[in-house]
Amino acid sequence: MPSAPASIANTNQVLIFDTTLRDGEQSPGASMTLEEKLEVAELLDTMGVDIIEAGFPVTSEGDFEAVSEISRRAKRATIAGLARLAAKDIDRCAEAVRHARHPRIHVFVSTSPLHMKYKLNKEPEQVLEMIKVNVARARNLVGDIEWSAEDGTRSEIDFLCRCVEAAINAGATTINIPDTVGYAVPDEYRRIFETVRERVPNSDKAIFSVHCHNDLGLAVANTLAGVAGGARQIECTVNGLGERAGNAALEEVVMALRVRGDAMPYHSGIDSSMLVRASKLVSAVSSFPVQYNKAIVGRNAFAHESGIHQDGMLKNAQTYEIMTPESVGVNKTSLVMGKHSGRHAFKEKLKELGYDLGDNALEEAFARFKDLADRKKIVYDEDLIALVDDEIGHQHEHIKLVSLSVMAGTRGPQSAALTLEVNGEQKTHQATGNGPIDAIFNAIMALVPHGAVLELYQVHAVTQGTDAQAEVSVRLAEDGKSVTAKGADPDTLVASARAYIAALNKLMVKRGKSRPETLAG
Ligand code: KIV
Ligand code: ZN
Repeated sequence: MPSAPASIANTNQVLIFDTTLRDGEQSPGASMTLEEKLEVAELLDTMGVDIIEAGFPVTSEGDFEAVSEISRRAKRATIAGLARLAAKDIDRCAEAVRHARHPRIHVFVSTSPLHMKYKLNKEPEQVLEMIKVNVARARNLVGDIEWSAEDGTRSEIDFLCRCVEAAINAGATTINIPDTVGYAVPDEYRRIFETVRERVPNSDKAIFSVHCHNDLGLAVANTLAGVAGGARQIECTVNGLGERAGNAALEEVVMALRVRGDAMPYHSGIDSSMLVRASKLVSAVSSFPVQYNKAIVGRNAFAHESGIHQDGMLKNAQTYEIMTPESVGVNKTSLVMGKHSGRHAFKEKLKELGYDLGDNALEEAFARFKDLADRKKIVYDEDLIALVDDEIGHQHEHIKLVSLSVMAGTRGPQSAALTLEVNGEQKTHQATGNGPIDAIFNAIMALVPHGAVLELYQVHAVTQGTDAQAEVSVRLAEDGKSVTAKGADPDTLVASARAYIAALNKLMVKRGKSRPETLAG
């Protein structure tokens, strides 16, 4: 729980403000369902995130519901909702966070000449007036108010200082100066915080916050520089998810502070052993793969291939590892699962991987695991994670895969015979296509007619070897809305069908539809 501004500003504690569910979800194709958001929020709360930005309530019913439900469930974190400086936004946001133990309204307005002129079509004095009126309105509804100067790093410093002073006078307790377009360099960003804190007379009444985008790959460096300049709240996202090139990655800032405490003596309250788990969950629900060489959570982050490195590692792990894999939650000595593993071992294994499934979901997942173990010698943790995430994703579906058989090979046309369960009713169709994937997607189209366009189709192997599970990502777009979903199976064609169906189910949720036939309209 955040302390009062004055008490934290002079300490070395930094608050972690996670915006995976708001700024992260704004990444094209990264939208999540309500259940997925609840799962992510629960994990963030458990791992020690101080403030969870759960959404932007005025923008959609879905965002409102997510913020309200997360507010009801969060055990210790402050729950923030985003709002523009407008009465309608602020009132809706206050309503959404009302049930939180620690609610926060996060209001923002642009302060750079470029944004004020072209985006807002307002004079600086008008923006200043908006801050005074609307921050006060928000403060009358909720005690914890954050104000953000959008495009803060391209704002004129004198005007920025006047805005910050006005926001604090009107009741803001946190002041965020975002590098909205990822333009700043570290020294410059640090100086902005030093200058504003020095020049603004009431700056000691607020906690300052950093929020960096990664357009030049400098988000984490800028974040740390902002902290050196006096900021004590870090806004970040798991896996660096976010608009365009993303936001500063939570796992990177947390571990940079932890590993280099000698150079940067600030600490967060995050349980770092949960970082890999959070990364895997966010990757699964957003369908954004984590690059192999991603710092901290990439699958190669602790892999040593070259002989010289392996030799060094065997002699002393510190030769090539600056942190232990265990410190970020990589479990080295993990229980290997195979076809002889029983239900109990399976359940224990899932627990170790951070899953606590209900009885039905556990049974379904176990049946799929047995099927997988029959076809694959060793079932790795990655296989189980892909399988269980796939299973969780399918629990609330209107459209389900029942069976698929495909004719492929050099002699076309390739064909697919597909049976789906659509809202409880089984339907079968046989289609041909230009290749087996095309045939499968044509069969899905015939059974569930829709206007969505396939924007991305990607396959990768979950583990190594020819018996590895395939994980397929599919992005569908319709009416400017896009969703991405994954499907996993040892058979690439089945995984493709699962991914396409999962994307259709997500699209229905996003469009607020409960009947597949309405996708066509
Ligand atoms: O990048 C940005 O400026 C934002 C604000 C809404 C805080 O995300
Ligand atoms: Zn942002």
